[in-house]
Amino acid sequence: MPIRPMTEADLSNVLALQNTLGFQKWNEKQFLSELRANYAVCLIAEDTGTFAGYAIFHLMGSDSELLTIAVDPKFQRRGIAFSLLYEGLHKLNRENGDHCFLEVREGNDRARALYEKHGFQAYGKRERYYDDGETAILYKW
Ligand SMILES: CC(C)(COP(=O)(O)OP(=O)(O)OC[C@H]1O[C@@H](n2cnc3c(N)ncnc32)[C@H](O)[C@@H]1OP(=O)(O)O)[C@@H](O)C(=O)NCCC(=O)NCCS
Repeated sequence: MPIRPMTEADLSNVLALQNTLGFQKWNEKQFLSELRANYAVCLIAEDTGTFAGYAIFHLMGSDSELLTIAVDPKFQRRGIAFSLLYEGLHKLNRENGDHCFLEVREGNDRARALYEKHGFQAYGKRERYYDDGETAILYKW
């Protein structure tokens, strides 16, 4: 599925998918501030008008971060998250010491499998990091 930059016109789809999946509670203002930040790379997976997912990175060389990634359940397990990750990560230069960090809920097996398949390695944890007391696992690419 083609990957392209996110625009403000995508925000209704992005918010609807976030709310359907229920994994995150960003409001429109938070997405807008990402769209306007020059270090943020905001991506959409969309094919002939069909919106399938999004990802947001902060690309800052050795201190880069994946903030969020989500794929519509109708399109999951087709490699779309893999493509979104690839599109962001290939802008980094691992040989030059670039890294990408992320944190994920300990129990989010699907996301952890995705990250590990993509070369992220767990390097630590933050106990009771989330509001509901779940631990965050820290990954580095
Ligand atoms: C995690 C998520 C983004 C994966 O999206 P996806 O497009 O289905 O992932 P892909 O098809 O690219 O899968 C790539 C790899 O991830 C792993 N994976 C993805 N879904 C999986 C599942 N349901 N069970 C086990 N492994 C899974 C597998 O290793 C998979 O490779 P494979 O299909 O060759 O085995 C999606 O499940 C999602 O949107 N989840 C809810 C939001 C979320 O939790 N985001 C991450 C936290 S910010």
